[in-house]
Amino acid sequence: MAVSEKIKEYMERASWIRKMFEQGIELKSKFGPDKVFDFSLGNPNLEPPEKVKQAILEVIEDRRPGKHAYMPNAGLKETREAVANFLSKEHGMKLTWEHVIMTCGAGGGLNVALKTLLDDKDEVIVLTPYFVEYLFYINNHNGIGQLVNTNEDFSLDLKAIEAGTNEKTKAIIINSPNNPSGRVYDEPSLISLGKILLKMREKYDCTVYLLSDEPYSKLVYDGIRVPSVFKAYPYSLVITSYSKDLSLPGERIGFVAVNPEMKNWRQVVDGLTFCNRILGFVNAPALMQRILPRLQGVTVDIREYQRKRDLLSRGLSDAGYSFIMPEGAFYLFPKSPIPDDVLFVQTLLQENILAVPGMGFGTPGFFRLAYCVEDRVIEGSMEGFRRAIQKYLP
Ligand SMILES: Cc1ncc(COP(=O)(O)O)c(C=O)c1O
Repeated sequence: MAVSEKIKEYMERASWIRKMFEQGIELKSKFGPDKVFDFSLGNPNLEPPEKVKQAILEVIEDRRPGKHAYMPNAGLKETREAVANFLSKEHGMKLTWEHVIMTCGAGGGLNVALKTLLDDKDEVIVLTPYFVEYLFYINNHNGIGQLVNTNEDFSLDLKAIEAGTNEKTKAIIINSPNNPSGRVYDEPSLISLGKILLKMREKYDCTVYLLSDEPYSKLVYDGIRVPSVFKAYPYSLVITSYSKDLSLPGERIGFVAVNPEMKNWRQVVDGLTFCNRILGFVNAPALMQRILPRLQGVTVDIREYQRKRDLLSRGLSDAGYSFIMPEGAFYLFPKSPIPDDVLFVQTLLQENILAVPGMGFGTPGFFRLAYCVEDRVIEGSMEGFRRAIQKYLP
């Protein structure tokens, strides 16, 4: 057997992603791409802002040598400084370039952080519904993922989190705005979470690190802001990327920022830097690092995603679907009209609509729609959504 037993099993577990992708290709070739309504992938449909293209051209035009060379594993000082200055304003506390490590996207950042923190069999709390890759990432570094449910409205269930922690808990991953629910955790709940984690320190004499996965933090609607985890808990790390807010997912650029109030922050930063190297990332892509100082605070037009959210949610609500209104990210997570979400996703497929069953996020009974798509996909799908739910209405 060429592929290890473990990876074979993981590939089977994750095969619904591939199946969805393949079914999409098949439907598109059979009916034509404009007759298929693909809500399956979180691949931003908006092009990067003009300023990104301009910055790339300027960096390329600068003919000084060494631009493509190896660099310190944590990244270029000027880039780390620009990010730190931006974060200092956002979080209302002083970060320096030394608190920031540039990574290959948020996915790379999460792996670097977990590699740095986990000893074998350490536990990591993951909240359902969760981003599909978390459990694989935790296993990459010999940790054990412990699933903890959120409340019915997908807000933090603090009691469940407290009950899910023990002396082996080394970290908790939170993701706000959340993929797939769109929920943003509010400030009081983050502060309460911080208190619970500090209590753990006293109870078990161990530190639980809060990994805040925030690639959607700038994609928030209706004037909402994502509260600072740094303010809520000193042993926190922000892990994020420019994949979604600058529409650069293929360029693999992000960072990990360490809370400056963390007592042992320098040790953690050294660990992150070393793990960036030994995981084989070596450093985040040089060209992308060079454009970032010119792009702090720049985003795609977020109003576009809010408009798409409103268009889709209005249509689904009229058709009889129920869901919480997403406060951020570009996903809607409606309740399946029948308990079997896989069967309902199959029903949507008969209408040429591609969605992802909630069980893939550890939350059966729901399905996810990524609305980072052209308007015609949303508008064209509405009849199909209506017919699908009507099959199950009494
Ligand atoms: C919640 C969450 N975390 C991390 C990632 C990975 O982001 P990146 O492309 O920056 O690695 C994604 C991508 O979809 C995501 O949804």
